[in-house]
Amino acid sequence: MEIIHSPSQMTAWANQALGAGKTIALTPTMGAFHEGHLSLMRMARHQADLTVTSIFVNPIQFGPEEDFDQYPKSLAKDAAMAEKEGVEILFAPTVADMYPEGFQTLITVKGITDRLCGLSRPGHFDGVTTVVAKLFNIVKPTVAIFGRKDFQQLAILRKMVCDLNWDIEIIGHPIVREEDGLAMSSRNTYLSVTERQAALTLVKSIKHVRQRFREGETNAEQLRCEAAKILSDNDKVTIDYLSLVDQRTLNDQTVINHDSVFLVAAKVGTTRLIDNTVLFDEN
Ligand code: PAF
Repeated sequence: MEIIHSPSQMTAWANQALGAGKTIALTPTMGAFHEGHLSLMRMARHQADLTVTSIFVNPIQFGPEEDFDQYPKSLAKDAAMAEKEGVEILFAPTVADMYPEGFQTLITVKGITDRLCGLSRPGHFDGVTTVVAKLFNIVKPTVAIFGRKDFQQLAILRKMVCDLNWDIEIIGHPIVREEDGLAMSSRNTYLSVTERQAALTLVKSIKHVRQRFREGETNAEQLRCEAAKILSDNDKVTIDYLSLVDQRTLNDQTVINHDSVFLVAAKVGTTRLIDNTVLFDEN
């Protein structure tokens, strides 16, 4: 595996690969790899001839009160893990490489960014779409793979690719969970032992909503109330939102169906966690 830091060298590699008739799969990440990231890389290997994983903790998607400075960074360990997964290129640019002085462009997807995480993290999705647009232009992937845990992010990126006529297939990888059900996240490392336990209320709320839907409950408000009760029973948990939305439009629903997705965001201690389930899914 080769580690490339410079965007221009990355593009030169991509041009050569594409010129030789190869396809490229990209897994964009912010590093601090766990099993979730590794499964994206494994999936990538089946989607294209060559795989690129990017590691870039993107400052412009973090709010001023968020954890940019604290975000775990472990390039050497990550590189060893990516190499084991057979990744060809690890692209790890610096902030100055990605946002040189004078950088002034932002990509905004309207509508679906103004709800859910967009409400409590203003500007977050502009940061995500801008950096992913840059990564697409630098790495020139045929296909890009993102985790479904960030369900809204995935929907926004699909919309961006469609609206901007990018010929890039976007694949959503199922959520990868710990044995006890907690969705894997680099931010789980912030949790104390008691917070780690409290975080399981998110999974509990998800399982509850799925079960009640299977039993025939379709009233979204009723399900939201029941899920809220599960989360607010634990004093370490502060709910940000609990929503039942259409999985394509992300519009709130009053009556849910197999196409609905239940999304939860909550702070456990000071750590913000998200999780979701598509109701028809096995996941
Ligand atoms: O999901 C993430 O890790 C990030 O939001 C992404 C897509 C790598 C952009 O910085």
